[in-house]
Amino acid sequence: MRNNKMLHIGMSLAPTWLSGEAWRRPDSNVEGLLTSDYYLDIARRSEAAKLDFVFRPDTLFLHPKMLESGPGFGALDPTVLLASIAHGTSRIGLLSTVSTTFYPPYVVARQIQSLNWLSNGRAGWNIVTALDGNENFGLADMPTPEERYARAAEFTEVVRRLWDSFPEAAIRHDREAGIGTDASLIRPIDHEGGCFSVKGPLNLPSFGRSPVPLIQAGASPIGRDFASSIADAIFAATPDRDAAIDLRRDLRSRAEGHGRPADAIKVLPGLSLYLGRTRQEARDLFAETHARADRGRKIATILEMTGLDLSDWPDERRVTSADLPTAPEKVRSRTHSDLLRRLILRDEPTVADLLTRPEVMGSSHWQVIGTVDDAIAEIMDWADAGAMDGFIAVPGGSVACMHRTLDEMIPRLSEAGLFRNDYSGTTFAEHLAE
Ligand SMILES: Cc1cc2nc3c(=O)[nH]c(=O)nc-3n(C[C@H](O)[C@H](O)[C@H](O)COP(=O)(O)O)c2cc1C
Repeated sequence: MRNNKMLHIGMSLAPTWLSGEAWRRPDSNVEGLLTSDYYLDIARRSEAAKLDFVFRPDTLFLHPKMLESGPGFGALDPTVLLASIAHGTSRIGLLSTVSTTFYPPYVVARQIQSLNWLSNGRAGWNIVTALDGNENFGLADMPTPEERYARAAEFTEVVRRLWDSFPEAAIRHDREAGIGTDASLIRPIDHEGGCFSVKGPLNLPSFGRSPVPLIQAGASPIGRDFASSIADAIFAATPDRDAAIDLRRDLRSRAEGHGRPADAIKVLPGLSLYLGRTRQEARDLFAETHARADRGRKIATILEMTGLDLSDWPDERRVTSADLPTAPEKVRSRTHSDLLRRLILRDEPTVADLLTRPEVMGSSHWQVIGTVDDAIAEIMDWADAGAMDGFIAVPGGSVACMHRTLDEMIPRLSEAGLFRNDYSGTTFAEHLAE
């Protein structure tokens, strides 16, 4: 059942509204993608809508083949990007993504805390264990999920201890006594663990007024266990309501198992929105966006995630539970392959149908293709069912759809009493605590 808390809403700054064919629209402003003004405009719109945060996902690899038909969005470093828009905004949270698999914790503790200072307490850290990119960091193979999560847990502990190693209270600025800092409050952490050896202290004080919210992405059983032990929220891939209800119930109970209140972890699914003035317009928007979607790439995705090769299958043939081989040992993301298996077991879809589902086409996100009214009804339904605590909007299809999300849909949620009308706090943690 829904509690009476307000939803928590974030807006993705990955330009999902330019994916597929959308960047080719005359008004796409694809040329602006590597400028900070581009993102500042969206962050300001998001702040005007009183969103909790803007969010930038990230990867640390490039497959040039994927750029052949796309604009080459370019992966601006998320923390640098968010720092560049901190100055032009004042209330909205700034959620950066940093991988625990490839970076050293000292650097990350410093980067995120720098963003926190420069934004007056609005930084957040989306903790990812990454999907790819090992060869850019001297690793022949991607570490196993178990290795990645063990490292993530130690990494996060080190970062938090570094943040505590130089408390803001140590700053004195006592001109008369000539004491700038009370060095007795600054302590090394002397961490010696399985993955890291870090002496500390951090060379930057912590912004003490508010902790940095931790968000985690990844929902295999070990991912859930990690998230429920430390995260304030999970960025979830939940293409259907039941998957979201199961995930939220499980995370809340795991949080209690870690001695935390169930409410300590919020479930924020990605919400892919194709919004039109009419349902037909929305359906057309979706179809136009994916008109050239590469069948071969989708078949390869299904093969990687399930071990099932549909290359020679006719469109009308159903994919049934009997066709599913045992789950492959090694997949890029267990979360995503489990969701795809779940879909096949439940719906036994035709090949043609399967190839249009978010589990194959997108990132397994919850999807609404319809009017703003449809989206509001769906969000209310999920909220009432206890399927989520909010969402991260990932609008698709066009800039107009992204604007409709922020300028029309969010205000309607506020009118319906599901979302704040104004900020009551100034920091990201305060928004999440409302
Ligand atoms: C919704 C969602 C979003 C993710 N976003 C990112 C990302 O931006 N960058 C990244 O490197 N990995 C990302 N990941 C990958 C996860 O951090 C994790 O490495 C992967 O899902 C494997 O963990 P799992 O087996 O628990 O799913 C994401 C995963 C999920 C489910």
